[in-house]
Amino acid sequence: MNRNLETFFKPRSIAVVGASRDSRKIGHAALKNILISDYECDIYPINPKESEILGLKCYKKLTYVPGSIDLVLISVPAAIVPPILKDCVQKNVKNVIIISSGFSEAGNHELENELRRIIEKSNMCVLGPNVMGYKNASDGLDASFVFGVPRKGNLALISQSGALGIGMIYLANNEFVGVSKIIGVGNKIDINDDDLIDYFAQDPETKVIGLYIESVKDGRAFMNSIKACNKPVLVVKAGRSKSGARATASHTGSMAGSDKIYGAAIRQAGGIRCRDIIELFDRARALAGQPPAQGNRIGIITNGGGLGILLTDACEENGLVIPKLSSKTYKKIDEILPDIIKPNNPVDLIGDAGFFRYEATTRVLLEDPDIDGVIVASVHGGYARPREFTGAILKMVREQKLHEEFNKPILATWVGGKEFEDLVWDLKSAGVPIYPSSWRTARSMMALYLEGERIKREKNQKL
Ligand code: ACO
Repeated sequence: MNRNLETFFKPRSIAVVGASRDSRKIGHAALKNILISDYECDIYPINPKESEILGLKCYKKLTYVPGSIDLVLISVPAAIVPPILKDCVQKNVKNVIIISSGFSEAGNHELENELRRIIEKSNMCVLGPNVMGYKNASDGLDASFVFGVPRKGNLALISQSGALGIGMIYLANNEFVGVSKIIGVGNKIDINDDDLIDYFAQDPETKVIGLYIESVKDGRAFMNSIKACNKPVLVVKAGRSKSGARATASHTGSMAGSDKIYGAAIRQAGGIRCRDIIELFDRARALAGQPPAQGNRIGIITNGGGLGILLTDACEENGLVIPKLSSKTYKKIDEILPDIIKPNNPVDLIGDAGFFRYEATTRVLLEDPDIDGVIVASVHGGYARPREFTGAILKMVREQKLHEEFNKPILATWVGGKEFEDLVWDLKSAGVPIYPSSWRTARSMMALYLEGERIKREKNQKL
């Protein structure tokens, strides 16, 4: 469905129904988050017993607020949500977030249907119930009741699980993955995943869209939105197993559906399915910072033969190819390597490789028209020099001219301990896609390849 969520994410006025002076209550936390946001808007607390909360004039009823209201957050017990929602209709409110739990996820289907009937007769966009709200990191607005400030970036996250959504904020920060918006969708009685994908497809602050879903309400609309989206869509679909599907039913009151059908439909629509959240972040980092791969032929560079083989296996298991080097590339790399080793793919730079060998070999592979992407790996073995490895990676990834000229992705892998990890943090904070496992690296390269294929299909359709 094509809905205008502009005032939902960028409201000029917000009311919190159930705002409280009691700092232990969710209605207090929600109001405070809006108040301390780096965002300009009118804020109206609503509580029948109070005249002022957190220094703001408090209104006894939503309909008593003098101006128009773009967004209402509702944090009152489930039973009194329907009359509040009717007040929203009467006040011509554009958007509503129902934080309250106690609906279909708790077996109260009739109460949820009552909300649905009110919404159907209105023009409102309603998120929830049973949600945390959202954090709009691009514009600095926190319209949620939960703690945590996401690092600003290009990944829009949609989560059907509130708690996992919050965990994802912290994990993203820890992984140096920047977020444009993060939103919980809960029971999805109105605003659905497809509405959000459509919105984020147009959002200039979003480059990659990531979803955690347990079920979708309208499968066709969901797949159509992914298909129409001009950006990579990463999907973690939970409830793959029989027991996982049973757990889904009691979590958000929804049916997990056939996993195989979901998998095939997501793939067909052009979405990229991820096994878990960390894989979603791994791939988001690669997709947000690197060009997609134009094909599946990958060049691997390593200072340890074992790691090169592991990467080769992981790549091939994920649909990538590690081709033999062309004679031209062979000759160029032969001039870079010490005499004791001959070029191959994976290219073994041997244990004492420093900045020059890494940088020069990466350039040669980027120049090769038979190579679509490069993985650069380092093992902190014996006399290896991790700082020179990370320095070379940083230089390559940052070199704009290199990207313009070759337009090929570079990913990195490392194996080592604490002192290596400190250097890796520097790379991660600069947005460089670097992973501590050959499998994770290969899965991220696979995502870049799938995105390249999606773009080709999109171009062909336009012709
Ligand atoms: N209009 C405005 N305010 C009202 C009204 C009304 N008609 N009626 C009552 N209120 C006030 C109350 O007086 C109270 O304010 P007070 O502290 O000044 O007395 C305030 O609204 C809240 O009402 P309470 O009855 O105190 O409800 P409480 O805050 O304890 O709980 C809540 C409400 C948070 C919505 C609860 O019912 C609930 O659903 N909790 C779960 C929420 C949740 O977890 N959602 C999923 C998020 S996703 C995740 O997992 C993170």
